[in-house]
This record gives sequence, C-alpha cells and structure tokens, in this order.
Amino acid sequence: MAVAVASARSKEGEVLYQVTGVDQDTASGRHRIAALTRGQFPFRTTDESLVEALVHCHQQGNLSATTDEDVYAKADVVIMDIPLDISFQDDYPRLHLANFEAAFRSVVRRVPKGALILVETTVPPGTCERVLRPILIEELGARMLETDAVHLAHSYERVMPGENYLKSITHFWRVYAGITSQAADACEEFLTSIIDVEGYPLVRLASTTASETAKLMENTYRATNIAFIDEWTKFAETAGIDLYEVIDAIRIRPTHSNIRFPGIGVGGYCLTKDPAFTPAAATQILNYQELEFPFSQLTLKVNQAMPLHAAAKLSKLLGGDVHDKEILLLGVSYRQDIGDTRFSPAESFAQALLNSGAKVKAFDPFIEEWPEMDLQLFSRLPSPTPFDAVVFSAPHQQFIDLDLLSWLGLARPVVLDTVNVVCKGQRDLCRQSGIKVESIGRGVGL
Ligand SMILES: NC(=O)c1ccc[n+]([C@@H]2O[C@H](COP(=O)([O-])OP(=O)(O)OC[C@H]3O[C@@H](n4cnc5c(N)ncnc54)[C@H](O)[C@@H]3O)[C@@H](O)[C@H]2O)c1
Repeated sequence: MAVAVASARSKEGEVLYQVTGVDQDTASGRHRIAALTRGQFPFRTTDESLVEALVHCHQQGNLSATTDEDVYAKADVVIMDIPLDISFQDDYPRLHLANFEAAFRSVVRRVPKGALILVETTVPPGTCERVLRPILIEELGARMLETDAVHLAHSYERVMPGENYLKSITHFWRVYAGITSQAADACEEFLTSIIDVEGYPLVRLASTTASETAKLMENTYRATNIAFIDEWTKFAETAGIDLYEVIDAIRIRPTHSNIRFPGIGVGGYCLTKDPAFTPAAATQILNYQELEFPFSQLTLKVNQAMPLHAAAKLSKLLGGDVHDKEILLLGVSYRQDIGDTRFSPAESFAQALLNSGAKVKAFDPFIEEWPEMDLQLFSRLPSPTPFDAVVFSAPHQQFIDLDLLSWLGLARPVVLDTVNVVCKGQRDLCRQSGIKVESIGRGVGL
C-alpha cells in the first residue's frame, strides 16, 4: 500500500504523496524499516513491478520508514494496516482490540485538523462506529477540536500476494465508507488518486459497519466455499472418483464457476481468522447475544482439520505408520509462489506427522527458514533418495514444471500430491515405473 501511494501521480505526472511507513520498534518492524530505507522490498516477491516501483520511489525520495509516531503530526492521510488479532479458547473466539485501539489513539492525538484516518485493517463489524468513534471524540475533545475535525473512514484491501501484488491494490475494485459523509468524500478523493477508478469503479456503502461487514462476508464466503469441498474430497477418494474432473464439469456453469478444488487446507493470516470476527463482534462489540453463526463456526472447524486428512492419507500410503519415516515436504507457504508461512496448512500437516514420530524435512523455493516450525529448509530441491515419502504441499510453479520421473531417478518414495501439481501424464508415467503416486481429491490409482 505504501508503494502504491508513493507511486501515485497527478495527470501532469507529478508525485502526489510523500509517504512515511511507520512500524514498531521490534525485530521484524526494524527489518521492514531498514529494507524500505535501502529501497528493497522486505519480503521475497514474484511481482517484479512492485520491486521496480519501490526502487523508483527510493530514487524519487518520496518513500521512507520510521518507528517515530510523531510523524503523524504532519500527515494529511494516515492509513492503518496493522493487525487486529483474535484467539480461541475452547472454540470461543476472543477479540484483542487493545493494540489497535492504542495505535488509533496515538494517531488521533497527533494528526492535524482536516486529516483523513483510513482504516484498512480487517476489523470486526462495528469497530469504527462503536470502538474508534468514542476514542476519536474523546481525544479531539481533549485537543479542543470539533468531533468532525478529523475524518474517519474504512476501506479494505483485496490485496493478493503473488505476481500481481501491486496491481491487486492499484487496479482492483474497492469498497469504502465514512463515519460522516465528509469522511466518505475524503476517502473517495484519496482512493481515486491511487486506484484506476475508471477501470475499477469504487463502491460507497452507507456506513463503516457495512463496509467492515463486506470484507468479512467476502472472506467467510471464500473460506466456506473451501470448507464445503472437504466432505466431497473424502467421498471422492472413497468412491474412486476424480473430484477435479467433477469440479471442472460443474464449473462450466457460470453460476458455479468459482467452486473451489480439493487441497491440503486453508492458510494465511486472513481466511483462517476472518470467519470468527463477525460472531465475536456480535457478542463482544454489538451486544447481539441471540444471533448464531453456524456456517462461520463450521467453516473454521472443517478448515482447521483439513491438513489432518492429508496426514492420515499419507500414513495409510506408508502402511499405517509414519514412525521414523523420512518425509520431504515440497512447499510450505500457504499459497502459490509466495514466501508467507503464516498459518500455513503445511504447518498442521507437518506437526501431525512429527507428533506421530516421522522425520520431516522441507524445501520451498520462496523460503529459507520456517519460523513457525523452527526448521531450516533445503536451499535447493534435494535428492529424493533418502526419503520414504515426498509430499507436494504448496502449488508453486516450480513443482508444476518439475519432471517428476527424471527427478526421482532410481528413488521410489511414495508420492502424495495434495495440491494438484502432478498432471495425469506424469502420474501414469510414474506408476508404470512402479512409483506409488496418489492425490488428495482422487480415488486410488487415478
Ligand atoms: N496480507 C494480506 O494479503 C491482507 C489482505 C487483506 C487484508 N489484510 C489485513 O491487513 C492487516 C495487516 O495484515 P498484514 O498481512 O499486512 O500484517 P503484517 O503483520 O504483515 O503487517 C502488519 C505490520 O504492522 C506493524 N504494527 C503492529 N502494530 C503497530 C503499531 N501500533 N504501529 C505501527 N505498526 C504496527 C507490525 O509490526 C507489522 O509489521 C490485517 O488486518 C489483515 O487481515 C491483509
């Protein structure tokens, strides 16, 4: 978002914004600040246009980063993109609002009159109206300012890490709303200056609660769509059906074109938590004690258990016991061609295998170290010879392009494809050479 804003230009081609990124004085915050200060993107990314745009901003000198919150005092616009977490105790979701509230308070205490505060964080419905607005009124009152002296708006990113990372911000549709109509106008004016709104028109909603709800409903729909496939995956494997073939046939119908495919599970920072936000907000922010959210709750439960099905399937392929078996995971990030391991389904999968006594090693072209598992990864695709099993656990292009039979050579591990990267031709060739290859979502030998 910082690069997108710093890359915005007027019709005459002039730089529109002087951008400062603010992060915490923590190891990861300092790492991000140091990288941006050098003109480098802090994560490995396959989006070359993002890397180039950042270099360009660095050369122009209109993007910097700091831990100094006093910079809010000079801001016309403050965009909040910080986390708002949720934890689970006995399946009961508990919102952690304190860090977000404190950050917002720090901004409101400092920003000049007339500034726009744009909340882009995924927040529980009601946050802007019921949690942030009272803070805004209190802090502006303490500064002897009117309650509308600072504009509060909400608009959520639909950012997609991967090849089109930057474009997923600058060339994609946006929903927004303001706490007042002036705030909505200020938000519209700002978004119009950074997004191609002619190609991707903005959608204004009537309230910030509606805009917050849109983000959560959108992500819960996606997560539920994935969860829905789980029971069909298990059915197809038992009934000897290729579920990919079935879904391809169904997807021809325009009304069903976005039905999801089988896989190892759902990961990332968003889809694994967002379905819990509205049920939590209903009781903890809005005081709607009587409402129930069976789909949201079931979605989270099903998706959390999905990697365990893949682990059970691998165990079966290895004769029912993975104890002391050497297992190679190919891909540990949660999504194709990105280096993000947060809440990756490969983590629950690997953990289940480790708990059963397996020895797990991994390679991912986008990751050197797997912090959640405290595991050093191979720096290049290793020889398959020492392994009893090879599992494709993220659909990176490198694995799709891999000539599996040549790489395996004389090695004969069991191969489990959880993410549909081994095509039918390769599966058949491997089987002709005596290699056991199975997939999630397909019956035995398909
Ligand atoms: N990553 C995505 O693809 C994506 C997409 C849509 C929405 N979101 C939402 O955007 C938000 C941020 O997600 P992310 O993936 O960028 O998270 P992230 O953890 O990668 O980045 C957030 C950053 O905020 C910093 N931070 C935390 N508290 C701060 C404070 N008080 N002041 C300054 N900096 C602070 C953290 O140190 C961290 O560097 C979340 O609400 C997420 O759900 C993310």
